[in-house]
Amino acid sequence: MKFGHFDDVNREYVITTPRTPYPWINYLGTQGFFSLISNTAGGYCFYKDARLRRITRYRYNNVPIDMGGRYFYINDNGTIWNPGWSPVKTELDSYECRHGMGYTIITGKKNNLKAEVTFFVPQNYDGEVQQVVLTNEDSSPKTFKFWSFAEWCLWDAQDDCTNFQRNFSTGRVEIKDSTIYHKTEYRDRRNHFAFYTVNDKIDGYDTDRDTFIGLYNGFHNPQAVLDGKCGNSLADGWSPIASHYKEITLAAGESKTLVFVLGYVEMPQDKKFESDGKTINKEKALAMIDKFNSPEKVAEGMKELRAYWDKLLGILNVNTPEDKVNRMVNIWNQYQCMVTFNLSRSASYFESGIGRGMGFRDSNQDILGFVHQIPDRARERLIDIASTQLPDGGCYHQYQPLTKKGNADIGGDFSDDPLWMILSVSAYIKETGDWSILDAKVPYDNDESKAKTMLDHLTVSFYHIVKNLGPHGLPLAMRADWNDCINLSCFSDTPGESFQTYTNPKFKKEGGYSKVAESVFVAALFTYVGPNFVGILNHLGKKGEAKKAQAEIDKMKKVMMASAWDGNWFMRAYDANGQKMGSKECEEGQIFIEPQGFAIMSDIDEDAAKKTLASIDERLNTQHGLVLNNPAFSKYYIQYGEISTYPGGYKENAGIFTHNNAWIICAAAYAGQGDQAFKYYSEIAPAFTEETSDLHKTEPYVYGQMIGGKDAGSDIGQTGKNFGQGKNSWLTGTAAWNMVAISQYILGIMPDFDGLKVDPSIPSQWDGFTATRKFRGATYRITIKNPNHVCKGVKSLVVDGKEIDGCVVPYVEGKIEVEVVVTLG
Ligand code: GLC
Ligand code: GLC
Repeated sequence: MKFGHFDDVNREYVITTPRTPYPWINYLGTQGFFSLISNTAGGYCFYKDARLRRITRYRYNNVPIDMGGRYFYINDNGTIWNPGWSPVKTELDSYECRHGMGYTIITGKKNNLKAEVTFFVPQNYDGEVQQVVLTNEDSSPKTFKFWSFAEWCLWDAQDDCTNFQRNFSTGRVEIKDSTIYHKTEYRDRRNHFAFYTVNDKIDGYDTDRDTFIGLYNGFHNPQAVLDGKCGNSLADGWSPIASHYKEITLAAGESKTLVFVLGYVEMPQDKKFESDGKTINKEKALAMIDKFNSPEKVAEGMKELRAYWDKLLGILNVNTPEDKVNRMVNIWNQYQCMVTFNLSRSASYFESGIGRGMGFRDSNQDILGFVHQIPDRARERLIDIASTQLPDGGCYHQYQPLTKKGNADIGGDFSDDPLWMILSVSAYIKETGDWSILDAKVPYDNDESKAKTMLDHLTVSFYHIVKNLGPHGLPLAMRADWNDCINLSCFSDTPGESFQTYTNPKFKKEGGYSKVAESVFVAALFTYVGPNFVGILNHLGKKGEAKKAQAEIDKMKKVMMASAWDGNWFMRAYDANGQKMGSKECEEGQIFIEPQGFAIMSDIDEDAAKKTLASIDERLNTQHGLVLNNPAFSKYYIQYGEISTYPGGYKENAGIFTHNNAWIICAAAYAGQGDQAFKYYSEIAPAFTEETSDLHKTEPYVYGQMIGGKDAGSDIGQTGKNFGQGKNSWLTGTAAWNMVAISQYILGIMPDFDGLKVDPSIPSQWDGFTATRKFRGATYRITIKNPNHVCKGVKSLVVDGKEIDGCVVPYVEGKIEVEVVVTLG
């Protein structure tokens, strides 16, 4: 069942009922001010840091779901409703929500009164603009009452939902004209405040929550709205809110437009107050208010926003025989990659914004998805990340976006972390040709005095793996490899111990983790990523070093065949007891997805690659994607850790973890199995799950981290229950990796050190496709012809009318247009 449809021309998803199977959200903002907004206007906003600068309040895991947002209430002669249906939930005569690129438009209609609300965060602006257009579609005049509503968060979102003994006595506001200012703690140690304004005279306001809502009422029946008035209340502690009140009369056919702005302002210490030393100095706020105080200015702001996205999405554009692929590649997957760039894993409807900093591995992988859109900011991000690395190549697993420092509470020793940096820096160079990044001086552990070149960072990353091998010569697994829930040094039997940070005391003297437990995944990642490092060294003319590194890669491949090949697939690990994990010899968890894709793409052994792909198809594939492992764990394996704490079919225990599905899509495409690759792609790509949105639950326009696997429900004897149900949408490495899988491996348009490689691996039934790719200053117009209906194999490559060998279009400086025709066969 569908709950809306794609509007590809406007780059929108149009939701046609407020009762989606889960709140379907969008993100507003691309720089400092961010908002989350659901299809019923739920959500919240924050400035830069979702925990420390939370501007409006939101209650996660609330009953009913998705309470708290920016709400407009209408009381039309006793009929009370919201344009976005919630929270009053009066049945509307019509409802529509359009989630677009950085904006959302919600339109509701009731009794011939139409309310269309446009929400967006303009470029270079620290505020959310909300334009409300009210139209009387009746044949006679209408008089009705209208309220806005936002609830302030007292800045630190964690403190705000725990420290009530203090917070109920600190809330403060100020009101001037039609603007309500939120200034809790501004008098003392904060130099920032927020405001909520409207570009019109108001008939009253409320800033005290209990006056507006009523202590025993809810968002769905605020007392003020029921009574058709407002209290002109001044908050003094408790819970400050901001609500404007207006009585409106519209002639038949008449429209009225109101522009609201919810803004955030930082002031220099010496300019915080007016001369009385108390009243907020509103200079900056008034300038902001002036910027968006008319529909004309709003239209201008929307135009700028559209231009911004036109530019970002104009870099890669494809036209394939499959609409769903086009809308994923050209619009939604790229959009989601930018959201993961901006938000990392901080704030979604599944991430509360108070939990995680920026992950080392996550941020590096995210780069793969957005480097073509904003290479400059990718460079900046790479340097930020690398600056947290330790001199021996180890990494803090997370860093804080505000301080950009490594997070000592979580620490390091996640065995895969260093390798992702080699991959992301390589991707940056391949995209831009900017080799100078390798010479950039980058601190270790944020200490400028320890700065060395980026090339040095890559070198210590590579050798960090080589220097930390276990008994078989495979990389040590440490606290976790990519899979946060395989914790081979944990042996945790006490509730509350974090599987990621707790290591069993028995490994203390060994340095904090087992020197026996080894990760086949990290081995495969090493042999996949390593050639990039070798390529870089060769390019720099460091032949000796390149040879040395290559020898390590070759050695690792041998070790993998000797000690990690299980006969039909690659094993997952050796545990701390030296026992095999992910082997046919195991009782449960015999085969794991993670090492397989990278092993296949490392050209270790052709026959092994074939067998592996066949095993994956047989053991892991389902109609909703590839499960992470099989069979699922049905009991707690203390030697494996968190993975076996999840009921079978969820998360890392045999859930469909979409992130690593992409690695198999890449691998199948790489191996020439374009039909197979496309099958796996279409099992999980959101546009393809649209028809089954009732089952899938989460947004059909973005990836979620996981989908219930075939074992979901097994724990309660109902195997298959929730199979296909999505969770954890939006902030996931899946976005970047599926962008790579579809654009670089299936469609085969892949930046390389020396030029743009074009080597598709497509469904054999396709006649071909066309694409436009901006790359290092030139526009490549690419035509792929597939007259013999093969999946893969470049028979001829013609560049600007001239046939050339191979499949890389060499980069030529100064060219601005390049015509590429590839014939497969
Ligand atoms: C989450 C984490 C990521 C990890 C994955 C598997 O997506 O953000 O870092 O690799 O889970 O555990
Ligand atoms: C939990 C999750 C995992 C995530 C990790 C991050 O272990 O299961 O997916 O990566 O938390 O801290």
